[in-house]
Amino acid sequence: MNFKTMYAKEIIKYLPSLSQSEVEQLIEKPRLEEQGDLAFPCFSLAKILKKSPQEIAQELARAIQHPLLETVVANGPYVNVFLSKKTVSKEILETILTEGENFGFVSIGASKNIVVDFSSPNIAKPFSMGHLRSTVIGNALSTIAEKCGYNVTKINHLGDWGTQFGKLIVAYKKWGNENSVKENPIEELLSLYVKFHTEAELNPLLDEEARSWFLKLEEGNEEAEALWKWFRDESLKEFTKIYRLLDVTFDSYQGEAFYNDKMDRTVEELKKLELLTKSEGAEVVNLEDVQLPPCLIKKSDGATLYATRDLTAAVYRYENYNFEQAIYVVGQEQGLHFKQVFIVLEKMGYSWAKGLKHVPFGFILKDGKKMSTRKGKIVLLEEVITEAIDLAKQSIAAKNPNLENKEAVARMVGVGAIIFHDLKNERQNNVEFSLNDMLRFEGTTGPYVQYTHARACSILRKATYNESKLNIDGLTDSLSWSVIKRLMEFSSIIEKSFSQYEPSQIAKYLIDVSQDFNKYYAHVKVLSDDHLLESRLALVKAVTIVLKEGLRLLGIKAPDKM
Ligand code: ARG
Repeated sequence: MNFKTMYAKEIIKYLPSLSQSEVEQLIEKPRLEEQGDLAFPCFSLAKILKKSPQEIAQELARAIQHPLLETVVANGPYVNVFLSKKTVSKEILETILTEGENFGFVSIGASKNIVVDFSSPNIAKPFSMGHLRSTVIGNALSTIAEKCGYNVTKINHLGDWGTQFGKLIVAYKKWGNENSVKENPIEELLSLYVKFHTEAELNPLLDEEARSWFLKLEEGNEEAEALWKWFRDESLKEFTKIYRLLDVTFDSYQGEAFYNDKMDRTVEELKKLELLTKSEGAEVVNLEDVQLPPCLIKKSDGATLYATRDLTAAVYRYENYNFEQAIYVVGQEQGLHFKQVFIVLEKMGYSWAKGLKHVPFGFILKDGKKMSTRKGKIVLLEEVITEAIDLAKQSIAAKNPNLENKEAVARMVGVGAIIFHDLKNERQNNVEFSLNDMLRFEGTTGPYVQYTHARACSILRKATYNESKLNIDGLTDSLSWSVIKRLMEFSSIIEKSFSQYEPSQIAKYLIDVSQDFNKYYAHVKVLSDDHLLESRLALVKAVTIVLKEGLRLLGIKAPDKM
């Protein structure tokens, strides 16, 4: 049940010239709780109705009546309403307990498809902090999209093609060793790559060799292909370790190489549409009309580029997944690239191109500086995650030494801390990486929300009741009411979080729910034996449902005990 909708329906009974959605958008939450639960501002009606907003508010306040509205008052130019705590709380708690984890479901995506391109690390290169952010944000957005009814396809667009593979092949053949690559693929391949560059400065012939090996690779030479495939497999094995730790899965690993045999068609189409022009030997799409630099399609040696593959991938995805939206969760430094790709597709006449969206995000900082996994400063991500799990293990051992499943819980808490820390800020902001901060059990952290959930579960364990037959009476005290009102917002927060591609909306909301609940718990004796006991248990149960489901949407587990 949505109270804004209910209220809007009441209002338009008296103002039939307005549409329900118009009214719904106007309805706000009063600044002060004492002013009511919802407020309708009448400013914009003054002109149409030729009356002052104050007059309109008074007339509406006199007219509106509804069993769910306890009081309707004019407050200057606003019509403020107080919901009937008793009826509404009963109804909300019953709904949450019946719907369980489905509570909060939104139907905006029903029978629509969405493609989410995220993570997408590069073969033979370290999994960077940027890839971590993309993984965490993309995974959350995928789950949130599902909750909104979308049919979601998660794609890992691996960076598995490009001239660097020519260099790697040369370097491996000259200085490489099979066992060391197997033992430590990323580190070993990266150092081969670095060695190639230092050696090539002294010996420019190496670059020639690399070019010719890349050419062989493109022509399907067996040896080149076998090495490429092996580098890819070994790298993917490493990346998979990180995905396992984070519990992230993909529907497709079709990366850049997958489009090799599909790019001719893109280039042909561009030619036919007369969109290609020559520029210093290269083929480009001129984008001067939209004040952008040209989009490079083919280099002078005929090699295709990153953009050519993204153009081809978009067409392929549309043809195969028939998406309404396709989002790319990639760092903001690639903003220009995606602008160019989207505009070229529009120029090609693809009307679906308006469904393509770049969802950018900021950097991870360490002591105020961009945290990098390159240039010798390799922070092995796997190590960072394992360290978080270890730290979580220590605080759990101190807090709750007898906990069963300590290992599993520490994993949920350590990984949850990293994910929550990333998602609690708006994604465009930079994130300062601090394991100690993210693992605190108080404040705005993942462990705080998880701990609140576990605490609520432990209250329920202490009571004896039959969950399917709880006798729920309305709760009317102000502390319960704050919690109830918060729980009521869940689906609108989910919808907002999806439409803005902002998992932070949900993260912030979970902090609010936790704070409201902890305040409630600090002042109310949930388990005292009176006629409202079962109603209070229902409230606690409802909180566990919303916290657990909210964390799930972010990609975080909620242990029952910790
Ligand atoms: N592999 C790229 C990188 O690491 C990201 C790819 C993003 N996805 C895409 N369709 N371009 O920078």
